[in-house]
Amino acid sequence: MNSIFSPVHTTQTRPFSERLIPRLKKAQSVVVLTGAGVSAESGISTFRDPDGLWADFKPEDLATPEAFRRNPKRVWEWYAWRREKIKTVRPNPGHFALAELEMFFPKFTLITQNVDGLHLLAGSKNVLELHGNIHRNKCFTCQNIYPEEVESKEIPPRCNCGGWLRPDLVWFGEMLPAGVLEKSYDLARDCEIFFSVGTSALVHPAASLPICAKERSAFLVEINPNQTEISHLADQVILGKSGEILPQLVSSLVPS
Ligand code: OAD
Repeated sequence: MNSIFSPVHTTQTRPFSERLIPRLKKAQSVVVLTGAGVSAESGISTFRDPDGLWADFKPEDLATPEAFRRNPKRVWEWYAWRREKIKTVRPNPGHFALAELEMFFPKFTLITQNVDGLHLLAGSKNVLELHGNIHRNKCFTCQNIYPEEVESKEIPPRCNCGGWLRPDLVWFGEMLPAGVLEKSYDLARDCEIFFSVGTSALVHPAASLPICAKERSAFLVEINPNQTEISHLADQVILGKSGEILPQLVSSLVPS
């Protein structure tokens, strides 16, 4: 039977069941999958919430190779706008708690769908970026990697090969970065505890990772203010914001 806990209203109330913390204290291998919800408390919009990016913009106009081919300037400028926003924000307590959590386990990997780089900024070390990183560019033609800032009079800027530059992230219909998905599946298959945090679990293959972990008998924990596609599979669903729940989770592991 899955247990669903209420959102936390005070710092005194810990939303964790008796089953989770003792298990976590003994665990050797932990994997955390994060999504846009983890950055929401930093002020970055999610995608599918009512105020998310996909409520105002169409992914097929902005986040596919076809869209870029059709209108490279428009796509470049949309990402330039997102980059400017991301530059103004800081990691939130959820990011910092995940960086701390890493130190408790011999094997810990943070797999993120986020492209904002905030986990690395918060100090997480073992991070797999499944959907790339908005702070890099790459050539649409030859795949050569470039930094975020590129001097150019043209929009989008051009690669030395003449191709257009684009942000180095994964668009709909594209393959995930070579090796990263395979490594993520291996980790999901082998871990004892898998956390799915701040993701709607709607976009595959990332959303297959918690399912794969659960099939291989990992203890599956979801942290999200709302139920998702995978809530029914989770051993524990903790309803709440990651910036509130994760710091409490870390505190629960510190010996008193
Ligand atoms: P979504 O926008 O689909 O889902 C965000 C999730 O975060 C929702 O389930 C919210 O309930 C939850 N959420 C909102 N605020 C939260 C908070 N403070 N704490 C915890 N959770 C919160 O975003 P993703 O699941 O990340 O792909 O979307 C997956 C992929 O779809 C993205 O990587 C992006 C997008 O299109 C590409 O760009 C390729």
